[in-house]
Amino acid sequence: MDGAATAFPPQGQRAERDLLRFLTCGSVDDGKSTLIGRLLFETGQVPEDQLATLERDSRRFGTDGANLDYALLLDGLEAEREQGITIDVAYRYMSTPRRSFIVADTPGHEQYTRNMATGASTCDAAVVLADAVKGVTAQTARHSRIVALFGIRHVILAVNKIDLVADDPSAFERIRDAYAELVADLGFRSVTAIPVSARRGDNLTARSAATPWYDGPSLIEALEDLPVAETGVARSFRLSVQYVNRPHADFRGYAGTIASGEVRVGDALAVCPGGQTATLARILSGDREVSTACAGDAVTLVLAEAVDVARGDVLAPVDDRPAASDHLDVRLLWMGEQPFDPGRRYQVKLGARTLPARLTLADAMAALTPNELADGWLTLPSPAAVDPFRQDPTQGAFVLIDRASGFTVAAGVVTGVSGQAAHIHQSPAAVSREAHERLSGHRGGVVWLTGLSGAGKSTVAQALQQSLHGRGCRTVLLDGDNLRHGLNRDLGFSDADRTENVRRTGEAARLFADTGVIAICALISPRQADRDAVRALFDDEGFVEVFVEASLESCRARDPKGLYARASAGMIADFTGVAAPYETPTAPDLTVATEQLSPSLAADAVRCLLEERGWL
Ligand code: ADX
Repeated sequence: MDGAATAFPPQGQRAERDLLRFLTCGSVDDGKSTLIGRLLFETGQVPEDQLATLERDSRRFGTDGANLDYALLLDGLEAEREQGITIDVAYRYMSTPRRSFIVADTPGHEQYTRNMATGASTCDAAVVLADAVKGVTAQTARHSRIVALFGIRHVILAVNKIDLVADDPSAFERIRDAYAELVADLGFRSVTAIPVSARRGDNLTARSAATPWYDGPSLIEALEDLPVAETGVARSFRLSVQYVNRPHADFRGYAGTIASGEVRVGDALAVCPGGQTATLARILSGDREVSTACAGDAVTLVLAEAVDVARGDVLAPVDDRPAASDHLDVRLLWMGEQPFDPGRRYQVKLGARTLPARLTLADAMAALTPNELADGWLTLPSPAAVDPFRQDPTQGAFVLIDRASGFTVAAGVVTGVSGQAAHIHQSPAAVSREAHERLSGHRGGVVWLTGLSGAGKSTVAQALQQSLHGRGCRTVLLDGDNLRHGLNRDLGFSDADRTENVRRTGEAARLFADTGVIAICALISPRQADRDAVRALFDDEGFVEVFVEASLESCRARDPKGLYARASAGMIADFTGVAAPYETPTAPDLTVATEQLSPSLAADAVRCLLEERGWL
């Protein structure tokens, strides 16, 4: 073992080679700090002057008699040294001739599990420490579940302190087998158990003579052989705005760390979830101006156009944006001391944002207790821009905080981003449309009358309703003007409001049609796309679009409600035909020209069509 350090090149000779990020997890006494310190030492990462300090410190604070106490290499954290625990995620660098490593050294102490989740979300592999004397513990199980939750697929079980069980192979095998059973359903692609002694240096960088019965790789060899996950640069660009930098009126920059991908000046970016777009004008990196930046860079972005960007917004390419949703499917690990309580108020910390959130478990009956995994969904007060964890590990991981206590109660990942529809179950129809129709004696469906204001939609609709009623049909009349006093009273005449007006009325009509009723709808419904969207709710036979045609001149001349006159006088904004568009139907099922036909003849024409289509 003693020659191991020289087997690795001194620092200056490091070549560019692939990089593996791994996480170490173990409890306080498992010997994790010693293991990492020893690995750093044996891979030649410890400069001379630090070695001198180590020798001195080992004599003063060391726990290993006259020997070097490698745990002391991981200093810098006074508190850790004093309390004997690791208190934060520390990233350390190592390299061998074959590979470079970033070690995320995460705390083992129970209450710091959250930091472990942070570390896990960016790693390719995990080294889980078990104590050869104590074996697999509840802590080992918890660490392994977190590692799996955050997408780590390769685990090395370092069975440490093998010297303390007299290098007994059966002790190692027992732990190895118990662990294999424990993680059998966690979805790991590889689990490699290695007997090690961090203190003696056994099986860390080279095979130890003390364990001749072990013929697997050393810890470093195993780490060198693991596959590396794709890097964040390969994914599409995401920056979650940490703060808006506005030192004076002429400058407005959006600062944050690029979570994934690359950007360059000139890129078209979208502000998510808002949706405004702008061109990237400048990239500031520290005090330098650069033309491109990538994942991991802390930058300030300046946009060419003035758009609204707030802290927590995500900047993304215009053609590849994250989904915006107020419902996030999640898988989480409950860490709170109290079981989950659906009545409590929580906050979710997601990327740079902290938002109020409600958690609902998929299995509503489940009582979520500490260290349990669960699936469910988070409901946010408004849509947020989020990528699922598998697409973006930095943005798709979250922690849940109890608002009253401020404690972190869960860590988890976003497994899917869907509309709320995904979570609302549809009750099956107790009585089918066919059964309703047998009772009605005719088909249920929708007759959609569209046309300019004053074209005669309402009059034709009324005549049609009377005519159908006279034949014993069950009908309902949904008239735009009337609905705007009730169901649609909150809507005006903007494009968006008219679209919603049509959508809502279409949905209401569908409810009637499904009950075997003929719903006659009379709405200007000026946009073809909106009318098509309603048609799409029905099967081929259930919807007829009737164009109630009259020229704009006739409508103006008729002006039954005096609205054209008032619109022309500027008293009504966006009046259809005057200052707002009307799209003539491209393929109506029927056109009734009210300049030629009386209302009752127009109604007859519609009724004939319904007979032809087999409705009556
Ligand atoms: S739609 O455009 O959303 O389909 P809808 O049929 O519900 O319109 O309502 C149109 C009725 O609202 C008109 O017949 C008229 O009485 C009234 N109205 C008031 N302001 C406007 C406007 N700006 N444009 C069109 N109709 C208006």
